Amino acid sequence: MCGILVYIGDRDPYEVICNGLKAVEYRGYDSVGVYAGKIFKKVGDVDSFLKNLDRNLSMPIIAHTRWATHGKVEDKNAHPHEYGDVILVHNGTVDLPPFPNLKSDTDSERIAAYLDNMEGSFLDRLKNLNLNGTYALVIFYKKDKDKLYFAKKDTPLIIGIGNNEMFLSSDIAAFIDYTTKYIRLEDGDYGYITKNEYKIYNKGMEVKREIKEYDKKQDAKKGNFPHFMLKEIHDQLELLPEIISQKIPEDVFDILKNNRIDVIAAGSSYNAGLFIKYLTNYDLSVYISSEYSYLMRNPEYLLAISQSGETLDTIKAVKLAKSKGAKIISITNYLGSTLASLSDFIIPLGVGIEKGVAATKTFFSTILVGYKLINKINIEKIRAAILEGMNKNVEVIDQDSKIFFLGKGINYPIALEGALKFKELVYCHAEGLPAGEMKHGPLSLFDKQAYVLFIKSEDSIYNYEEIKARGARVNLIDFSNEYSQISTLVYFQRLAYHNAVYRNQDPDKPRFLAKSVTVE
Ligand code: F6R
Repeated sequence: MCGILVYIGDRDPYEVICNGLKAVEYRGYDSVGVYAGKIFKKVGDVDSFLKNLDRNLSMPIIAHTRWATHGKVEDKNAHPHEYGDVILVHNGTVDLPPFPNLKSDTDSERIAAYLDNMEGSFLDRLKNLNLNGTYALVIFYKKDKDKLYFAKKDTPLIIGIGNNEMFLSSDIAAFIDYTTKYIRLEDGDYGYITKNEYKIYNKGMEVKREIKEYDKKQDAKKGNFPHFMLKEIHDQLELLPEIISQKIPEDVFDILKNNRIDVIAAGSSYNAGLFIKYLTNYDLSVYISSEYSYLMRNPEYLLAISQSGETLDTIKAVKLAKSKGAKIISITNYLGSTLASLSDFIIPLGVGIEKGVAATKTFFSTILVGYKLINKINIEKIRAAILEGMNKNVEVIDQDSKIFFLGKGINYPIALEGALKFKELVYCHAEGLPAGEMKHGPLSLFDKQAYVLFIKSEDSIYNYEEIKARGARVNLIDFSNEYSQISTLVYFQRLAYHNAVYRNQDPDKPRFLAKSVTVE
């Protein structure tokens, strides 16, 4: 959940750092750091870091945006970390005992100390790296100044290959302005880059990995929108033909329809999985990825949903099911992701890069997979439903309210998604509930302090009356078109967005969260 950007080449270091750090900031944004001849690191966001960054920088560049796991958000815990002859940045978490003279509270500095204390050439040290945990590491070894070493396990690391220049990053977006050629490293890979070459090894042997070409059409720009999130809500309309044109492989239709399927996902992707279950009525058992290992019963097929394709909880669950012989079907937005590489079948989301930390257009494209599965796609009606959701007035909800999103049946996953968006962006407690369940406990909270977003359906009207009778303020969500869940979704996305902006909170970068959750 950190962003890494590394560069060796002849470009202006400041320009490369600016572009690259802004592109990976969505992965973590509580502190920023750079090694470029000297180490500069600071708590805060990328913009303020760059404003104060000394322009007298030298090659190579190792830069990092942090999302704290070990150690508080303090300057000393920001990356890069230096120990002896080793300077490194790290994404992931590892278990290592402490070493003498550490300056931070991080596991990452312990890796630097561990590497510094090892014997042999640096490549041998990486070959013998025996770390319990997950890591993408990039290392500057002071005795080998023209190389940057790397090692990767369970978190993404990508080499960008340019003309007389090389990059290493957690995301293609960090170097896409300079080169579209890239290699996605695999678990256990280690090696080095110089300005003109790269070498990749795995278990002591040099290995070749496929060089891929990134399609620049997917490039994400904010345009005239004040935030990526608002742009991405509007993308749901703009990209509708593109989303609809994403094909579900024929075999997948048959497998999903005719088999009992375990579905795993986290956060919004979980809500989308639940939505697909309600919509299709297929034999789907939907699990939260991080809980799956406790419940798994050797499935024949596993459907994994992850827009990033990198969520560690989901990847671990996929690997577990795969080790028991399950065939993996995935729904993802990143065809080059770890999840895609583990899958037997892929259903692409095709919405381009989503920069806002909160899932919007990726969630939308995921639930459209459900509509495709039951052959219920009418582009004009879906467009009209989105517009209805765009046009309904959003109100500012008093921060002290107890906020509930209620829906019954297929509206329940939409209620869950509405509550998740709201708490994530507005920092207010909000709960999504099946409307019928509230009388089994939560109803005691429904006094005048309660604010209820109630999704109307024919079978939920009694619950509506029960709530009104207790004095709660109710915002009745009453879209009556054939795709009313889409209208409600878009309305809930806008509700969270506008309430966050009203409170001067950045909807693109909600506190404590990151776009791609590559830690447990
Ligand atoms: C909420 C949100 C998160 C993600 C979750 C899974 O707006 O974005 O809850 O849905 O972290 O992410 P993916 O789909 O990348 O596995």
